Amino acid sequence: MIFVTGGAGFIGSNFILQWIEKEKSSVLTLDKLTYAGNLNNLANLELNSRHTFVKGDIQDRHLVSELLKKHTPTAIVHFAAETHVDRSIYNPEQFVKANVNGTCVLLDETLKYWKQLPSAEQESFRFLYVSTDEVFGSLSSNARPSIEGDPYAPNSPYAASKASADHIVRAFHHTYKFPTLTTYASNNFGPYQFPEKLIPLVIVNALQGQPLPLYGDGLQIRNWLHVEEHCQALRLVLSKGVPGECYNIGGQHEVTNKEIVTLICDILDGLRSDSQYLPHRSLIKHIKDRPGHDRRYALDSTKIAKKLGWHSSSDLKAKLYQTVVWYLENLRWVENVVSGDYRQWMNAHYSEKETV
Ligand code: NAD
Ligand code: DAU
Repeated sequence: MIFVTGGAGFIGSNFILQWIEKEKSSVLTLDKLTYAGNLNNLANLELNSRHTFVKGDIQDRHLVSELLKKHTPTAIVHFAAETHVDRSIYNPEQFVKANVNGTCVLLDETLKYWKQLPSAEQESFRFLYVSTDEVFGSLSSNARPSIEGDPYAPNSPYAASKASADHIVRAFHHTYKFPTLTTYASNNFGPYQFPEKLIPLVIVNALQGQPLPLYGDGLQIRNWLHVEEHCQALRLVLSKGVPGECYNIGGQHEVTNKEIVTLICDILDGLRSDSQYLPHRSLIKHIKDRPGHDRRYALDSTKIAKKLGWHSSSDLKAKLYQTVVWYLENLRWVENVVSGDYRQWMNAHYSEKETV
């Protein structure tokens, strides 16, 4: 059995669904079910005996320790985190608690568990920590893409909390020879992404004829990666990665926010040709920029390609099309999510942002 944290979130749920389909072992999921955690993402596994869900916090030392003793996992895949950069600007402490303290408690309890395993099981055990390209900070337009081992320069409270946790993971490997693996992924998109993030936000707003908010000039660059490809890479790192090593997992495309939003609008124009909001790109609104907004992220994924044989797809448009179709076919999932905390966040956050 593997032990997955944050499995009711966007990437975690995609990972678990893919794992159950492609692998043989079972999954134990621990998730606090914050506003971003959604059990509907795992609804297909409700009756599946290979999946066990536990609601709880990774900061709960006693719970983590009991789960490890009871389920005796062979690996941990650690996704659980507060993940939205904008929210981190308004509540940094929450990010430090969940992302830094939470990771430290999880590592600490897993280390105790690992130490008492028989040596063959110690040898094969892995702790995979899912980090982000944001730890490398903002790149200038002519800088080379980030490689593993580049100096850290996190700019948002979110990125700083992920970078801090990376260092703790690294220290556990260095100090205790604990078998950690760290991955840095670029911006993910795909099914089950909470619509506070750019791509689902734009799809959901466009369908309702709401403004499509672009921060500042919209020329910030992100390195988009489809979530299923990210999950394939994570499975590969788990099975073949070398303990103590870090692996970039980046998309092949560097695209400005303006381009990605326009592409989504064009896809929707085709799929919803009877919409009263045509052309959807007329809904785009430039609004006040995110404070400290990173201009460009880019990852060099040569290491994972050479060492583990992973490559991401080169067809961003096809993956984006698939994603828009998924949201159109899953409007009930969207409606479910759009109630509650998300609506409050949208009202508080976007109503105070002037158009520029
Ligand atoms: P998400 O916000 O969709 O999901 C996070 C999940 O973690 C939620 O289900 C939430 O309930 C759970 N969680 C939060 N705090 C918890 C706690 N204290 N205890 C237990 N569960 C808790 O996030 P995501 O986009 O799926 O990201 C997953 C991981 O991947 C994060 O660590 C993130 O930093 C990393 N990452 C994300 C991206 C991306 O583009 N989304 C890119 C690179 C790395
Ligand atoms: O790079 C990986 C990171 O990608 C992950 O580590 C984070 O967990 C994940 O949230 C994501 O961070 P971003 O800040 O890049 O994602 P977001 O979808 O919030 O924003 C993508 C870009 O779009 C960014 O440049 C900000 C911009 N944006 C975002 C929103 C929500 C807008 O222009 N308007 C918006 O309304």
